[in-house]
Amino acid sequence: TRVWTEIGKLAEPLKDQYVLVRGRAQRIRAKGKTAFVVLRERGFTVQCVLTEQDGVVSRPMLKYAAGLSRESIVDVEGVVSVPGITINSTTQQVEIQVRKILCVNKAMPTLPINVEDAARSDVEIEKALQNGEQLVRVNQDTRLNYRVLDIRTPANQGIFRIQCQIGNVFRQFLLSEGFVEIHTPKLIAGSSEGGASVFKLDYKGKPACLAQSPQLHKQMAICGDFGRVFEIGAVFRAEDSFTHRHLCEFTGLDVEMEIKEHYFEVMDVVDRLFVAMFDSLNNNFAKELEAVRRQYPFEPLKYLRQTLRLTFEEGIQMLKDAGVEVDPLGDLNTEAERKLGQLVLEKYDTEFYILHRYPLAVRPFYTMPCYDNPTYSNSFDVFIRGEEIISGAQRVHVPDFLAERAQALGIDVQSISTYVDSFRYGAPPHGGFGVGLERVVMLFCGLNNIRKTSLFPRDPLRIAP
Ligand code: 4AD
Repeated sequence: TRVWTEIGKLAEPLKDQYVLVRGRAQRIRAKGKTAFVVLRERGFTVQCVLTEQDGVVSRPMLKYAAGLSRESIVDVEGVVSVPGITINSTTQQVEIQVRKILCVNKAMPTLPINVEDAARSDVEIEKALQNGEQLVRVNQDTRLNYRVLDIRTPANQGIFRIQCQIGNVFRQFLLSEGFVEIHTPKLIAGSSEGGASVFKLDYKGKPACLAQSPQLHKQMAICGDFGRVFEIGAVFRAEDSFTHRHLCEFTGLDVEMEIKEHYFEVMDVVDRLFVAMFDSLNNNFAKELEAVRRQYPFEPLKYLRQTLRLTFEEGIQMLKDAGVEVDPLGDLNTEAERKLGQLVLEKYDTEFYILHRYPLAVRPFYTMPCYDNPTYSNSFDVFIRGEEIISGAQRVHVPDFLAERAQALGIDVQSISTYVDSFRYGAPPHGGFGVGLERVVMLFCGLNNIRKTSLFPRDPLRIAP
């Protein structure tokens, strides 16, 4: 068996060694007795040099290389050399002096997206256009239509590795704190969050829904005495709005746990989990973050060692003091949330914080009212850069009251009767939260659209690829 080297691992210490790599031909240029093939693998590129001089490669081999189509899969054997120019962190400083080149599988001659163009930042595009370079600006729809090509860019390779790490930290952290990973059904009889945003379907002749969250079944797992559970899974919302932060299918990171004294115990988990997550990304994913930043510049997220907690009333007061009038018992709209994010940043120097004790009227039926004042509830939202990534709460664990709340909010109690009944068999006080994975990636990386952080996004207008 032959020894393969990853393009991302090519570096100066390998100088003069004979290596074998496989990549995609990103760019091919031929000039006289020389040809250059830039090979890319997992977002890392290396320039491969073929020269006819001194018979290093034959004329037919040179011509063969010059005739490669972009994005074809190509094997190269050769000697590592160091030309002494630094390009950037994803383009290797070393080159390969090619001895052999072989196309393993050809890509079609003209592609709908040029990956090299798709990888450029706005600033680079402006510069290139000023220099009279010919390039096609790749718009978002084109990127999503040909997503398989689009996700080859270094920034996208970084984004989905960061997404992977967020899920990884979520799982590892919760396992280390005694949580059990569960898998709840996505085909359910009644809607789990209420409201209109539910996909309805026919389940062998019976009406059913795609789960809008694992809400009901994660609570039932607590009734089943697991104590603390979590889930990473698909969540479906029949969103009508076409916004930068709503998808029709996203990945939910869900937590549910028994509460001994206070819903603050749930916020404590959010606090420790997310500080660990942000630390892990900053400490171990610098290369990926840099790859994202080169195409989509952003400032590192500001967060505190202990996450700031403000009550909803305090938030309303801050907005009021800044001259923003909002309904003190209504939900905050996107604009008010952004504004509050700014005010919090100015006052507390953090872009990550928890807002809790929301008015009961704006929360789902299963939310526990505050014991001291039922106008408010034992609930919270969590924000990154002024946008919501989490909502959570203590739940109603008293069955008759739960049924009453559901009914009051217009939910067909019969369709969730097995859920309500679960609390009749002995149920401890409990609470939890749900995180939108794509939103965390988007906001941690300061990106402007959730479609950038979903591998194959589903929105009201898109169900393919
Ligand atoms: O706020 P949501 O709807 O809350 C729940 O689903 C509760 N069951 C959570 C709980 O345990 N109490 O959704 C939770 C999170 C939001 O904070 C947001 O980050 C994300 O899911 N989210 C969406 N992400 C992308 N597209 C959508 N349409 C989203 N809707 C919610």
